[in-house]
Amino acid sequence: MTHSLRIPDLTIPARPSPVGPGDASDPAVSDVDVIRVRGDARLDGTVHVVGAKNSALKLMAAALLAPGRSLITNVPRITDIAIMGEVLRRLGCGVRFGPDDPVDPMVAHGGVERSRSVLIDVPERPGAEADYDLVRRLRASICVLGPLLARRGYVRVAHPGGDAIGSRGLDMHIAGLARMGAEISGEHGFVIAEAPDGLHGADIVLDFPSVGATENLVMAAVLARGATTIDNAAREPEIVDICTMLNRMGARIEGAGTSTLHIVGVPGLRPVRHATVGDRIVAGTWAFAAAMTRGDVTVTGLDPAYLEVALDKLVAAGGLVETRGDAFRVRMDDRPKAVDVVTLPYPGFATDLLPMAIGLAAVSEGGSLITENIFDGRFMFANEMMRLGAEIRTDGHHALVCGRERLSGAPVRATDIRAGAGLIIAGLCADGLTEVSHVHHVDRGYPDFVADLRALGVEVERGTAPEEPDLAI
Ligand code: EPU
Repeated sequence: MTHSLRIPDLTIPARPSPVGPGDASDPAVSDVDVIRVRGDARLDGTVHVVGAKNSALKLMAAALLAPGRSLITNVPRITDIAIMGEVLRRLGCGVRFGPDDPVDPMVAHGGVERSRSVLIDVPERPGAEADYDLVRRLRASICVLGPLLARRGYVRVAHPGGDAIGSRGLDMHIAGLARMGAEISGEHGFVIAEAPDGLHGADIVLDFPSVGATENLVMAAVLARGATTIDNAAREPEIVDICTMLNRMGARIEGAGTSTLHIVGVPGLRPVRHATVGDRIVAGTWAFAAAMTRGDVTVTGLDPAYLEVALDKLVAAGGLVETRGDAFRVRMDDRPKAVDVVTLPYPGFATDLLPMAIGLAAVSEGGSLITENIFDGRFMFANEMMRLGAEIRTDGHHALVCGRERLSGAPVRATDIRAGAGLIIAGLCADGLTEVSHVHHVDRGYPDFVADLRALGVEVERGTAPEEPDLAI
């Protein structure tokens, strides 16, 4: 597909630093990565999504369960995956990233390789410690807890703490592992789990269908003695993906994709080759971007059923949605109509699409009530959206958004992966230029977002800008 693009002139006039001109001797001023987009955009074209970050990270952890060489394909080329590779290396694994196989021609469109394969060579006795430095950079590295406890009978992982979307508890991971016979303690910011005699099966009921707890407990249970039942388990497609891979490694898991998982432990697993499921959050981001810009976008690379609730919302907003095999198309001809959104565990509306739902509401006709039920801090980015002129009032886990015809371009700051993507997309519906800083967050979840935007017709540029110290009190 070709697009005739005007050469973008997205130069933003240099902003004077509030602490004076920056130079190498001025420690208060450093450069941050920014993405600049020109507003009044209309997305048009096809975009391919590769494997899901939130699956691939766990598949890599699951490889720890079998000594030998596992190959995972359709792994997104993003920062978080590189960090997970480092976590595994420090646990003694050989980790080699290579070209995807088979190479999907769409994957390399725009000259950029979006997905890779990763070959993980797991030793007979992997290490048992994930240090603070890595867990701080990748909260998801907590998912090595279950597999390492199962393999080694001992594991020490830094406590991941909270982040820009809210607190990230571990109580359900810990309670579930304790029911399987582990002794869990905490010291100096580390979670230490021990099961010198091995784990045993247990009946576990989760307080909430936590994605991470379900994954950790499944990975612990596959090698435990006896049978485990996990009730109120998470049902996300990424959970199904990991259970599919584990079963192909020789595990005995039933019920993946339902609220009850039955796992019969086996003495050992074998390495495997597995392709990562497509990324429904990246796909959903493009779906909302198409609707917000009154565009026409076809997304390939995943089963549209994984986005059923989100796509239904776009239909309610006035969009035309067509689904076919592993692709869907979203077209919006008129200004979207306001729709209410409530985030819930899968198959409900995904919390990771909340910033996109707020963006859509901000340019829709009418008022939308957006309710967040998963993370207590997810609305933290709303202030940045307001800088773009969005009319948002938050109260606890509700946000009331009053739509306006157009937003107003401004410098804003990405606070997490999804907020960053949401702000960039909101900038497409603004007058003039929007500069989103701290886009390293976006790199954690979207392989080459800029190239995809450009392929869909957006005038976009990536660069750096001086860090503005946060002087707010
Ligand atoms: N929770 C507890 N205790 C626990 C576990 C979870 O209180 O033991 C709470 C959390 O604090 C949170 C809620 O339960 O409020 C849901 O947490 P969950 O465990 O389901 O989420 P997660 O495994 O930490 C994954 C994704 C998130 C995604 C959520 C929900 C990964 C690496 N992360 O997080 O993705 O938002 O599920 O779908 O898989 C992202 O990709 O940007 C992202 C944040």
